Amino acid sequence: MPNSHQQCSSNIPVPLLDVGRGNSVIRDEVLAAIAEVYDSGRFLHGPQVTDLENYLAARCHSKFAVGCASGSDALLLALMALDIGPGDEVIVPSFTFFATASCVSRLGAKIVFVDIDPRTYNIDPNAVEAAITTRTRAIIPVHLFGQSAALTEIVKIASRNDIPVIEDAAQAIGAAYHGRPVCSWGQMGCISFYPTKNLGGFGDGGMLTTDNEQLADRLRLLAGHGMRPRYYHSEVGINSRLDTFQAAGLLVKCRHLDHYTLARQTNAQRYFELFHEAGLDGARGFDDLTLPYVDPAAFHVWNQFSLRIPFGRRDALRTYLQQSQIGCEIYYPVPLHEQTCFRRLGYATGSLPHTEAAAREILHLPIYPEMRPEEQTRVVSQVASFFRANCRAVA
Ligand SMILES: Cc1ncc(COP(=O)(O)O)c(C=O)c1O
Repeated sequence: MPNSHQQCSSNIPVPLLDVGRGNSVIRDEVLAAIAEVYDSGRFLHGPQVTDLENYLAARCHSKFAVGCASGSDALLLALMALDIGPGDEVIVPSFTFFATASCVSRLGAKIVFVDIDPRTYNIDPNAVEAAITTRTRAIIPVHLFGQSAALTEIVKIASRNDIPVIEDAAQAIGAAYHGRPVCSWGQMGCISFYPTKNLGGFGDGGMLTTDNEQLADRLRLLAGHGMRPRYYHSEVGINSRLDTFQAAGLLVKCRHLDHYTLARQTNAQRYFELFHEAGLDGARGFDDLTLPYVDPAAFHVWNQFSLRIPFGRRDALRTYLQQSQIGCEIYYPVPLHEQTCFRRLGYATGSLPHTEAAAREILHLPIYPEMRPEEQTRVVSQVASFFRANCRAVA
């Protein structure tokens, strides 16, 4: 039997993500579901949309779910449903995808960026508490990379101050904290079906969850031009629909979601074992590689597997892996408070040190469900050879 180092000698390219592998397995199921929508002619508001809403509401232990056109729209609609606008402040992490903050800006409210916990990369509850003012109208924790933010503390702080929590669970469908699913903790939860997500669609799509019937109704109204009945507009809403083709395809994927989650968790575990075998688990060997930290309360669903490489070597490792045809990516190279469009908010470099360090030091490896064990072996072998050549060993 070849040992892991022998297996690594092959030069197979390793993609960051190959949606084709998973989709080929369910091709017939998906095409049949899409054909059914095609034949029905109900391209919008078809029964599959309601079925998907019901499925995700149950899955997230929420009473209601409302489909919309994207995760970005879900966040925007959530803020619209809370009547957030000029003069209001919304607390968000800076270490996240743009959409978490752009929704605040689009409504004319003030973005209040706070720092992260450097272990989990999720928003730091102490920083949230310190940022609350009399104008704070919402807090948006993001469950980054598939791991829940510290929801117990965040929800406690929010309820003490009577501020709604909107969970950005775009990367974390199926995740939980203390056994309770994400999207069931805040007033609303926001899900994305962007194809790289754990429940990835065949284009754009999103979903909101809530336990509050009035909010669910308002979200539906706002997502449909504020129109009820037809051609009578009580509010200025937007057009944000989840189309029936997407819902039908996603319903097929929902049947496999537990399997996808388990496969991601198995891949994460395999990475930990392989890095340990290679002497790269941080505890010994090299002190300048940090593997992901898993909060003991979190049911992590591994949308991403993050390595942390300080001392300016992250970019060199990235180049090395790319030259070895190993897909890797930086999420996110520029924190939101340093983005050109948010410079006007006046955050100086150094104001969110943990966020800025993470942006400089983090690199993501492939972890999608259909990734093969030999591909993971090759990834770790290449990371190990980079470290042996470039980094100092712990004495
Ligand atoms: C944390 C986070 N929030 C929001 C979004 C927006 O989702 P979408 O791409 O579906 O608009 C994404 C994904 O792209 C995301 O990763």
